Amino acid sequence: MAQIQFRRLRQNALLRELTREVRLTPAQFIQPLFVVEGLRSAESIPGLSENSRETPDTLLKRVEKDLELGVSKFLLFGVPAHKTENQFNFDFTSKQIQSLKSRFGGDLLLFVDVCLCSYTSHGHCGILSAEGDHVENEASVEALAHAAGEYAQAGADGVAPSDMMDGRVAAIRGELLRRQKDQTVLMSYSAKFHSKFYGPFRVAANSAPQAGTEARLKDRASYQIDPGRFQDALLSSERDAHEGADILMVKPGLPYLDVLQRLSSSIALPWAVYEVSGEYAAIEALAEKGLISAPEAHVEAWTSFARAGASIIISYGARKAAQWLK
Ligand code: PBG
Repeated sequence: MAQIQFRRLRQNALLRELTREVRLTPAQFIQPLFVVEGLRSAESIPGLSENSRETPDTLLKRVEKDLELGVSKFLLFGVPAHKTENQFNFDFTSKQIQSLKSRFGGDLLLFVDVCLCSYTSHGHCGILSAEGDHVENEASVEALAHAAGEYAQAGADGVAPSDMMDGRVAAIRGELLRRQKDQTVLMSYSAKFHSKFYGPFRVAANSAPQAGTEARLKDRASYQIDPGRFQDALLSSERDAHEGADILMVKPGLPYLDVLQRLSSSIALPWAVYEVSGEYAAIEALAEKGLISAPEAHVEAWTSFARAGASIIISYGARKAAQWLK
């Protein structure tokens, strides 16, 4: 007769919850928000149920409801109406930061994504060279630092650069100090991979890269990390830590759990993981087909992030997590 050994602790829900090493709480989730200039009414985002492109008005209503639900941390993406190649105007996003913070103050922790892809006419995360054949590092970093300074001054609690230019963390930290915003938290997308899982986001943020005639500008491979390179993720994260990031990030989540595990055990800073639009939408799509139960599948994916070392989870399901994990 086989001895019952490991099954003893699996026998009922109370024993299972008692012996779990990883526990999720709504407190660790960050909800992304999109606010779009010139939009007449909120538009739902294909694939990301319960997430919308908001107008400035609906943004405030949405956040008010979220706070009631128990969601208190947000990552804001501002999408301006006007796209240019250079000389960006960050006022639209700054205004939304001001109105959120003046309305809700310390009830919400507001991170703001810092990137140029929603601002540029070509959709790249930086400024193109004069020849138009590559994304120029230095000019991009300068514009990104300016954006971060503006958002901090408008009241953002944190800025989160997602562009993947070299040296932007140091430049942003310098700009924050210059503006006497030394308390602004810097959450760096330090290990952001060149992924196909960003599809639904690019619709939401109106930020898909346009190739033009240059092969090397057809996608973001010349600045985001190659999926086959753990070392690059490690070096980039170490560099960002040294340049003054407070929180580091792995993105996407599920296809890069090994990276999250290894990085979080080698760099002693808080680690965030971004469950990106495509991986979130994949679970939703399976659920819509009746092939999977969405709540349990989402919780299972989030549990894997915590197990792999993330203390912070950025997810389109943060407001569901607030209900399910109560
Ligand atoms: C902007 C940015 C992207 C995401 C966050 N910030 C898209 C990209 O790099 O193309 C992806 C988020 C998601 O897919 O949910 N650079």
